[in-house]
Amino acid sequence: MPKIGLISGSLRKAAYSKKIANLLANLLPNDLTPVFIPIDKLPLYNADLEDQQVAAWDDFRRQLDEVAGLIFVTPEYNRSMTGALKNALDVGSKPRNHWKYKTALVVSSSPEATGGFGANHHLRQVLVTLNVNPVQRPEVYLGHVNHLFNDQDLVTNPDVIAFLQSAVTAFVSLHARLAAVPTRPTPTLKLNFQPGRFYANDDTGSTLANIIFEDRQNHRIAITETFVDERLRGQGIAKQLMLRVIRFAQIYHLTIIPECTYADAFLEKHLEYASLVAPND
Ligand SMILES: Cc1cc2nc3c(=O)[nH]c(=O)nc-3n(C[C@H](O)[C@H](O)[C@H](O)COP(=O)(O)O)c2cc1C
Repeated sequence: MPKIGLISGSLRKAAYSKKIANLLANLLPNDLTPVFIPIDKLPLYNADLEDQQVAAWDDFRRQLDEVAGLIFVTPEYNRSMTGALKNALDVGSKPRNHWKYKTALVVSSSPEATGGFGANHHLRQVLVTLNVNPVQRPEVYLGHVNHLFNDQDLVTNPDVIAFLQSAVTAFVSLHARLAAVPTRPTPTLKLNFQPGRFYANDDTGSTLANIIFEDRQNHRIAITETFVDERLRGQGIAKQLMLRVIRFAQIYHLTIIPECTYADAFLEKHLEYASLVAPND
């Protein structure tokens, strides 16, 4: 399954950039696997060190080689991207360009209304020479980022979620076009996300697929309902729903209480996710 690398331009533990990256990872379809690529251990680029095999650089370049596309989330520092992100771009560009031909999504944010416009465009400028193909539109400048998240680091504003979903969808379709994939190998249902729920509706607004997961104490979520409309039965849609919730739990470091029958049976069968199942009280 192709991997998509997510890079946060901020090193701060509580960075808004990291929270946005989590949400964007959560919005990717199941046939693209998000991988968070840290940049905080990269020594400053210095060509003199190339002979000495800097392990952190080698590791970073290997991670770049393994991803098919990239999602950058950067704050703005003094009207540009962060020094850490620029350093990562430099490290990945030598001794050969590890970025080239990849598809990218560029997201910037700021507590100010301007949403990191300067950082966004300085980053785009560097992507030109690295031969990376960023999504042109929608342009994503997230202003007032300090008001976006609740105390569980989730965005609750449905307009913001829908906007970011449209950006991720544009990224996925650009990636498919550039990778010359004529049709997606397994057509997956386009799932919408709301806190506590992944779902799809038909054109009339009636529910085609739905999985509900409730917040519980101690970093747990309980899957209370998994529903697939008769019209879609037998196409693996329930599994798609489960995989999205599993990925949500992985991104946010949560465990799962499988309260509905389907979730329970799924997790009994798929022992590879055993570590995500919450222990009994
Ligand atoms: C060195 C520095 C420079 C900054 N310059 C800008 C700026 O030019 N424009 C802006 O909107 N915010 C600026 N900020 C504020 C950041 O947008 C804010 O700290 C933001 O939360 C950082 O993103 P993060 O939460 O992902 O770490 C700056 C912050 C720092 C530390």
